[in-house]
Order: sequence, then C-alpha cells, then structure tokens
Amino acid sequence: MKSNIQPADGKLGVLIPGLGAVATTLIAGVEAVKKGIAQPFGSLTQMGHIRLGKRTENRYPKIKDFVPLAELNDIVFGGWDVYEDNVYEAASKAKVLEAGLLYSVKDELEKLVPMKAAFDKNYAKNLDGTNVKRGTRRELADEVIEDIQNFKEQHGCDRIVLLWCGSTEIYYEASEIHQSLNAFEQALDNDDKRISPSMVYAYAALKLGYPFVNGAPNLTVDIPALVELSKLNNTPIGGKDFKTGQTLMKTILAPGLAARALGIRGWFSTNILGNRDGLVLDDPDNFKTKEVSKLGVLEDILRPEDNPELYGEIYHKIRINYYPPHGDNKESWDNIDIFGWLGYPMQIKINFLCRDSILAAPVALDLALFIDLAKRADMSGIQEWLSFYLKSPQTLPGLRPENDIFKQLMKLQNTLRHLMGEDLITHLGLDYYQDLVEVM
Ligand SMILES: NC(=O)c1ccc[n+]([C@@H]2O[C@H](COP(=O)([O-])OP(=O)(O)OC[C@H]3O[C@@H](n4cnc5c(N)ncnc54)[C@H](O)[C@@H]3O)[C@@H](O)[C@H]2O)c1
Repeated sequence: MKSNIQPADGKLGVLIPGLGAVATTLIAGVEAVKKGIAQPFGSLTQMGHIRLGKRTENRYPKIKDFVPLAELNDIVFGGWDVYEDNVYEAASKAKVLEAGLLYSVKDELEKLVPMKAAFDKNYAKNLDGTNVKRGTRRELADEVIEDIQNFKEQHGCDRIVLLWCGSTEIYYEASEIHQSLNAFEQALDNDDKRISPSMVYAYAALKLGYPFVNGAPNLTVDIPALVELSKLNNTPIGGKDFKTGQTLMKTILAPGLAARALGIRGWFSTNILGNRDGLVLDDPDNFKTKEVSKLGVLEDILRPEDNPELYGEIYHKIRINYYPPHGDNKESWDNIDIFGWLGYPMQIKINFLCRDSILAAPVALDLALFIDLAKRADMSGIQEWLSFYLKSPQTLPGLRPENDIFKQLMKLQNTLRHLMGEDLITHLGLDYYQDLVEVM
C-alpha cells in the first residue's frame, strides 16, 4: 500500500541549534551545490540509488526521484549559537572548507546570523560565548517557540525541522522529571536545571509539531517525556549522534568480521582532533557522553553473550584527545586483535585521516530531508529507520538497537519502499531459480 504522503511543496526551514563546524559545512555545501560549483558526495538523498522490484526489472532510480523529498533550492537555513559570528565568519573560523569555496557563497552565508542561544554553561564549560538568552527554563522554551514561529513567518516556510548540531553536553541520565510529559512541563515551570538546553529546543519544536533530530550523543529527545510529546503531536524524532569517522568504520568492519565468525580479542580506538568539538570533549564530563555513545556499537553488533568463544573476552577502549594543530581533520587509529582458525592471532590496523565535518554534513542533510519526509508521511515518534546515520540509535526502551550498517541500510531502503507501495526486498533470490526449474 502506498502511504498518503503530502507533497514537498513550498519552503522547508531547517533550523539548527549550534552553528559550528558541522552546521556551517552543511549550509555552505548546500549553497555551493545549488550554484553548481560542487557535488553533494556522501549524501544518499542526493546521489544514492535504490533497487526496486526484481533484479531482472533493472529498476534502479535515484532515491530523490523515487520519494518526494524537499529540493535543495527550497531549503531555508537558520539557527542559534552561543557565539555571534554569522555563518560565513563561523565557517571561516571552523577552517573546514577552503577560503575560495566559502567566498563563492559568502553573500548567502553572511545573511545567516545566529539567534540568541538557550544555553547553560554547566552543560558545556569550555564555551564562553555571550549570545545567550536569559531566563528560566520555561522562559527559554517560550522564547525558542517564538523564534521558530517568527522565522517561519519571515521566510515564508511551509514546514520546519530542527537539527541539533550543538556541542556535546555533559553526561546526564534521565531522572524522574524526564519520565513523563507532565513531570517535564512541571520541571520547566520549576526552572529545574536537569532540563538540558538541547531539551529546551526539542520541547519547543515538538510542542509546535515540528520534527527534531539530535546529531550529538546527549539524550535530548531520548527520554520518555519527549517521546510522549512527539506521539501526542504526531511528530517524528531522531537521534542520536551523527555516525561518522571511526564509528562509521567500526560498523562497516565489525559486521564483516562477525559474518565470517572471526574472533576479536581487543579493539583499541584513539583519535586526535583540534576543532571546537574536540575542545568541548576535552572536558571529562562531556567526553563521557561521547564515550557511552561510541562504546555500545561493538557489543550490539557482536553480541558477546551469544558468542562467548568469539567475543566474550573483547577489550574495547576508546580515547579522544584534543590536538589543535589538526583542526577539523580528525585522525583516528584502530588496533584490532582478531583470531581465526584454531585461535591463531592476527591484527588489523586502521589509520583514518578523515575530515569530521565533511563526513557529517551529508548525514545532517539526509536526516533533515528524511525526517521532513517522515512528517509528511504521517510518521511519529522514534524513527528507527534513520539509525543508518546514527552512532547510538534511539529505540524503544528494551528494544536492542541495530548498529550493523548494512542492516541499517536495508531497514532504510525497505522503509522507503514500504512508504511508496513497492515490494520489500529480502535478497532471498530463490524465485529466479525456481522460474528456471519450471521452464526446464
Ligand atoms: N563532526 C562530526 O563528524 C560529528 C560526528 C558526530 C557527532 N558530532 C556532534 O555534532 C555536534 C556539532 O559538532 P561540531 O564539530 O560542529 O562542533 P562545533 O563545536 O564546531 O559546533 C557546535 C556549536 O554549538 C554551539 N552551541 C553549544 N551549545 C549550544 C546551545 N545550547 N545553543 C546553541 N548553540 C550551542 C557552540 O557554540 C558551537 O558553535 C557535536 O555535539 C558533535 O559531538 C559531530
């Protein structure tokens, strides 16, 4: 059955709390693509294809020609930041993109001036910007709601999505105020500081019925109160933590090793990076949030409890070190101690010289476009099919996340097929040979 998907007519406002390296690389990239001076490599929505029907049918359209997605020309960006820099200045400081490319989209980027942030320094101690709102948690939420409504009106947007690209907040766990919408709203009124700034934005978006995606590892929408609000207002949510760099490699490689029943004794991962994200993660409380998000991946893929001989003893260690000379060009090393037939040991070494925000920008774009599609397709609550893009996918409590990137891709593609009334593809393939037998 084809779902009743509203068309992607009119403008889509993509509002971003946190106009730092990822967000400015996304915005500058989209503007450059619109001008035809660069290509959106890494973005499935722009470049990816999807197989439809049987292999003999040879139907392999681009995803953007198959599902009704917003056009890049219809996106209007905006956002908030703790610092006053416009997007051109922020992108120049982030030093991800070359000056020449940035200059070619300077006019578009300079117009984007951040709104005052809903911020609490206790959640990111290494930031000292002054472009911040004052007030209780309830007042901050009301102001963000007003910001969103004003933006929508000023730019003539038909739809809005919010995409958290803000710094990683300090580690926190859900407490009693996060367990129900009622308790959460009471806590807003009581100015309870356990409501993190990212939750303030998420609450504001969901209250208005606008989708929210969390690109950082902090809980944000991954609490019962905001899941409840998303269901109540028929709005999709996604999170958490963009899957890029080392974790992307891990979720590509680990399923392959597990598929061939090769054992793993240890996986040591270390990173050096020198951008503002690295500066924030230099604080142990913020690093803890990232560490928790990154650690779960292997366990979920390898299932040591079901495979104790292969993975029961695995030692998994992750380090992130702030190293300014590298800027956004994160370097990661992985040493993987594996073993094969009769227990004979082998090693794999990976040295990934990546560019963090170059990997993250297309992920952020796809998430914004797909969550908008989900809203128009009347989907609400947790969108597990978007876990393809996320390091620590949000699932229902008690439901184990799927971290294997290949299964995640199948889930995403089958969701698109399902929405468009196409047959789901299991890759069984027996029918091709059955037909042959019948003919013979
Ligand atoms: N770059 C990647 O590959 C990658 C991958 C996964 C996740 N992430 C996450 O994405 C987020 C953004 O990464 P980045 O490299 O752009 O970091 P960044 O430090 O360059 O940008 C984050 C911006 O958020 C702003 N900010 C912090 N708190 C805010 C608030 N309450 N309201 C508004 N603005 C706020 C900061 O001032 C900063 O400008 C981080 O949480 C990071 O961990 C990045």
